[in-house]
Amino acid sequence: MTVETGRLAPDAVRTMFDRIAPVYDAMNRTMTAGLDRRWRAETARAVVSPGDRVLDACCGTGDLAIAAQRAGGRVTGVDFSQRMLERARAKSDAVEWIEGDVLAMPFAEASFDAATVGFGARNLDDLEGGLRELRRVLKPGARVGILEITRPHGVLRPFYKLWFDGLVPLAGKLLPGGCAYTYLPASVRRFPEAKELSELMQAAGFEQVRYRLFAGGIVALHTGTAR
Ligand SMILES: C[S@@+](CC[C@H](N)C(=O)[O-])C[C@H]1O[C@@H](n2cnc3c(N)ncnc32)[C@H](O)[C@@H]1O
Repeated sequence: MTVETGRLAPDAVRTMFDRIAPVYDAMNRTMTAGLDRRWRAETARAVVSPGDRVLDACCGTGDLAIAAQRAGGRVTGVDFSQRMLERARAKSDAVEWIEGDVLAMPFAEASFDAATVGFGARNLDDLEGGLRELRRVLKPGARVGILEITRPHGVLRPFYKLWFDGLVPLAGKLLPGGCAYTYLPASVRRFPEAKELSELMQAAGFEQVRYRLFAGGIVALHTGTAR
């Protein structure tokens, strides 16, 4: 398990996010030219109805949880990185922030009406287990939205490779916790492609699974309904 393979033990993932927490939001804005905000708002809109009790798993510095709260949800954000959560807490007290492991959450079955995961699924040590855990805490009929980086096909692919496999790791070397930006493209390479993620979601107990691609196919939003 190394940053180069894009697979790290949970403790190493947590330490990595603790280290990059101070620059995480700025790196997101820079790497996506500010589009990440729009993708999170779209994710919230796709799954949250006003009054829903919403889980934002792997909430990090909180931007997707806050988008879900703005869409009318009563939101609980869960993450295991204290430093990422500190940033989230500083942004909003309208969301309940909980330090915990998304693979074993401290919630009863069927606690939530909707769930979101933004750029977090790729970091889970056990993706299938994480999807089953999301399904467990959702009510039947609840909606899930998983926003994740994916690999584009077609004309954008060479630009993507230059940017993501070349410039992002290089930029990361100059920043605190720079190895995170070696891990980032490697973790995208080993993560299932959009179609395969749909199949894993179905196997975990979701139906009506669909995905949309953003920004020419570099980001995918998968949605589904808990069976
Ligand atoms: C790339 S950040 C995404 C943060 C946020 N959702 C966003 O949209 O920017 C991934 C987050 O997943 C968290 N994470 C990874 N595995 C986790 C686990 N098993 N339990 C809880 N949090 C986890 C990390 O601590 C990190 O904050």
